[in-house]
Amino acid sequence: MASITIRNLDDGIKDLLRQLAAENGCSMEEQARVMIRAAVEGRAGQADRIDQIEKTLRALTGPGQPASPASAGSSQRSIRGTLSGKRILLVIAGGIAAYKSLDLIRRLRERGASVRVVMTSAAQEFVTTLSAGALSADHVFTELFDRNDEHDVGHIRLSREADLLVVAPATADLMAKLANGHANDLASTVLLATDKKVLMAPAMNPKMWSHPATRRNRATLQKDGIAFVGPAKGEMAESNEAGEGRMAEPLEIVAAIEAMLDEKPKPLAGRRIIVTSGPTHEPIDPVRYIANRSSGKQGHAIAAALAKLGADVRLVSGPVNIADPAGVKTTHIETAAEMKDAVDSLLPADAAVFVAAVADWRTANAAGEKIKKVAGKGPPALQMIENPDILAGVGHHAHRPGLVVGFAAETQDLLGNAEAKLRKKGADLIVANDVSHGSGVGPSGVMGGDRNKVRIVSRTGVEEWPEMGKDEVATRLAALIAERLKATVV
Ligand SMILES: Cc1cc2nc3c(=O)[nH]c(=O)nc-3n(C[C@H](O)[C@H](O)[C@H](O)COP(=O)(O)O)c2cc1C
Repeated sequence: MASITIRNLDDGIKDLLRQLAAENGCSMEEQARVMIRAAVEGRAGQADRIDQIEKTLRALTGPGQPASPASAGSSQRSIRGTLSGKRILLVIAGGIAAYKSLDLIRRLRERGASVRVVMTSAAQEFVTTLSAGALSADHVFTELFDRNDEHDVGHIRLSREADLLVVAPATADLMAKLANGHANDLASTVLLATDKKVLMAPAMNPKMWSHPATRRNRATLQKDGIAFVGPAKGEMAESNEAGEGRMAEPLEIVAAIEAMLDEKPKPLAGRRIIVTSGPTHEPIDPVRYIANRSSGKQGHAIAAALAKLGADVRLVSGPVNIADPAGVKTTHIETAAEMKDAVDSLLPADAAVFVAAVADWRTANAAGEKIKKVAGKGPPALQMIENPDILAGVGHHAHRPGLVVGFAAETQDLLGNAEAKLRKKGADLIVANDVSHGSGVGPSGVMGGDRNKVRIVSRTGVEEWPEMGKDEVATRLAALIAERLKATVV
């Protein structure tokens, strides 16, 4: 049973416990234990108090543990135990993003992990040990020297009795300490003493993140084998601040943790794979552009699925509204020409998967200033020219990857167009999907939606896959790529 921390309970329950404990002449902890035992054995007796007992159980055992056999797992069972039995030591450092780490604890426990929390003293300025303790259903460790703490297990045990150490948020300060081998509080000592893998999710002001000192520290930590997730670009908590420095979202951190703890075989280990994803934006003037409806969901899912199989994935992404996949190195571009340059710079590679919906044309005469609407002049004439064909370029490149996969998004003659593309562009496989409004795939169609229905066109024939989620298409395609690459030497 989880340890009982009376101060984690809400006041009403504390009063009830105090009253019953006084009546029975025992401590509040002992009273709570009696109530738990009674509830579990179905002899709670006082009907009017059962509700409160259940509340007590929930508060005592936390969200990840069943309150009683009757309620055991009713909601938990539906959550996949992807981290079942894994022990995570979560170090929370002193940044504004510390509040997100409370959600991270919940997400990890939902997936079956047990979470022990270490908080720096700065972290306690942002979130309380009470919240972290209630969510982790465990004692929260804060002190390096605490002979009076009955829960003290010592920094060595803390650092070793875990499968993975996660630092979220990782402050500039804690990164600097670890990069330089400092160990002057519990968090830094545990991180230095561990023999386990460490994952850091940095979060800080963009200026702090781009400071040469932080960049140096990050490079040192990476060289020391520490893995990173994020930070992402976006708005900062401080007003009028934006840039790179936002902590990765809890679910991205969970994905990175799952990948690090995944003991399944990695058939793509040592393989470098380029993936393109999303639309391209072709400027008309500084404020207007030509785009398409690609969301990047399929390409990003494929990049993530390949990374899960151990590939070193380089994703080149057009402008999308989804997060960079965990465990993947992402380059952000806007135009087709930029995408081509990014892809060319990533060659050679073992495989390349071209999922991006690259604009076929761009404006030849993009204006340097915003085009003004002038009465009586009519709309501007847009002169279009062809964009470089990235797939064909790589398909016929001197450093052509061993496996080249293209996507064909078509609204008519799906197979005819896909087969022609396979031959013309020098691809090994074309993943053909019907992106017409009448495709009947998912509630919102393929482009922008979450589902897909594809055919895999190769020189030897066509394989039709049933409609499924884009993640599942990605998993199957990654397995197919691994199978195809098996025959080639790393
Ligand atoms: C309001 C406020 C917000 C802060 N946010 C961050 C942050 O997001 N990232 C960071 O690296 N430091 C941040 N700091 C600075 C750290 O709290 C400070 O460097 C502290 O010493 C970190 O201690 P720790 O690394 O032991 O947790 C913030 C400070 C304040 C006062």
